[in-house]
Amino acid sequence: MVLKESLLEKVPPKVRSQLEGYADALSTLLEVRDPRVLSSIGPSAVRGTILKRGKQGVPTQVPASHSAYFDWSYPQDFPEMADLYARAKRGQWNGEDLPWHISVDPLDSRVPLLPRDFFAFETIQDMLGVRFSEREILSFQHDFVSWMLSQFLHGEQGALFAAAQVTEAVQFFDGKLYGSTQVMDEGRHVEVFHRYLDTKLERLYQINDNLFVIIDALMQDSRWDMKFLGMQIMVEGVALGAFGVLYRETKEPLLKQLLKMVIQDESRHVHYGVLALREHIVKELSERERREREDWAFEVALLMRNRFLAYEIYEEHFEGRITRKQWREAVYASPGMDRFRHVMFSRMVPNLREIGLLSDRIRPHYARVGLDAYFGGLAADRLTGDQMIADLEQAA
Ligand SMILES: [Fe+2]
Ligand SMILES: [Fe+2]
Repeated sequence: MVLKESLLEKVPPKVRSQLEGYADALSTLLEVRDPRVLSSIGPSAVRGTILKRGKQGVPTQVPASHSAYFDWSYPQDFPEMADLYARAKRGQWNGEDLPWHISVDPLDSRVPLLPRDFFAFETIQDMLGVRFSEREILSFQHDFVSWMLSQFLHGEQGALFAAAQVTEAVQFFDGKLYGSTQVMDEGRHVEVFHRYLDTKLERLYQINDNLFVIIDALMQDSRWDMKFLGMQIMVEGVALGAFGVLYRETKEPLLKQLLKMVIQDESRHVHYGVLALREHIVKELSERERREREDWAFEVALLMRNRFLAYEIYEEHFEGRITRKQWREAVYASPGMDRFRHVMFSRMVPNLREIGLLSDRIRPHYARVGLDAYFGGLAADRLTGDQMIADLEQAA
């Protein structure tokens, strides 16, 4: 704990919550033990968590520093990538064709957005010493799903720009052609998530500070493979975890259909990440560079595991009534968050293995935090979108 409890008790609840917010941001940074990782994330962390650049209500300008790689000979030398491009063209769909006529009522208990056991309501009720009514629970779930989908939407905006940057920067020509389809995919994802939030849930939450930090850092990194690793493996890994759990657990048919279509696209994006990075990391990087990426991926995986905490929801509903620490405990205690972490790591860890970032040197670190269960899973190059959907349905 960075702040003294005895000091905190003397300040008004709102101020206390703000101080705890800063302390929490600081402790996030202190959790990062690798100085190179810290220096690559640090400036973005200041912009995101202290200056709150994503929450000023004005557009954010983020300078980019990569170079565009032109090749005037148009080589066709990466058949697996060309194959993925062909599949991506066939897999295009129109967001307007989703069943938008379905009317969505978040307060209708017959069609809940989330199952009742997703969130640890009992824990919160005990902390507050109250019982929530049925309507309060549905209304809270409405806000929580809106918050999640808002973060998906903001993440998709980041993915759209990252896909465009990577398309410029990558050296494989077959990869550039494939990248053009991903730019279209991400544009469509922004379209459908925004439409759902705007016309069905009628809510839009601001970007979460930690998501801002990751997007900001990746946009500015001049190394395309770091953008790739961050976006295509780590962020898309989180997204697949969250989309997968929500797809499996929501009873709302329009959202379910929307997520099914998005998951199909995302499975290609992660596949692309695996193909490009495997080629690059194994063949082109020095051992020192490889290790740097291996350490970076481990630290970011930990941050993602620990930091998906929905503080925006806390501030809206419970600030001043329970502390941030209590809120964190309630989030950690939530079975739905557990299921989300499981799906996320079962996708992410095998992909890290496949691209050469899970060597014997780093494995004990993953094992120490309980992630060794995922070492043997299937990587994205062996897993189609249809298989992913079938897996999720089987586990339901
Ligand atoms: Fe996407
Ligand atoms: Fe994507």
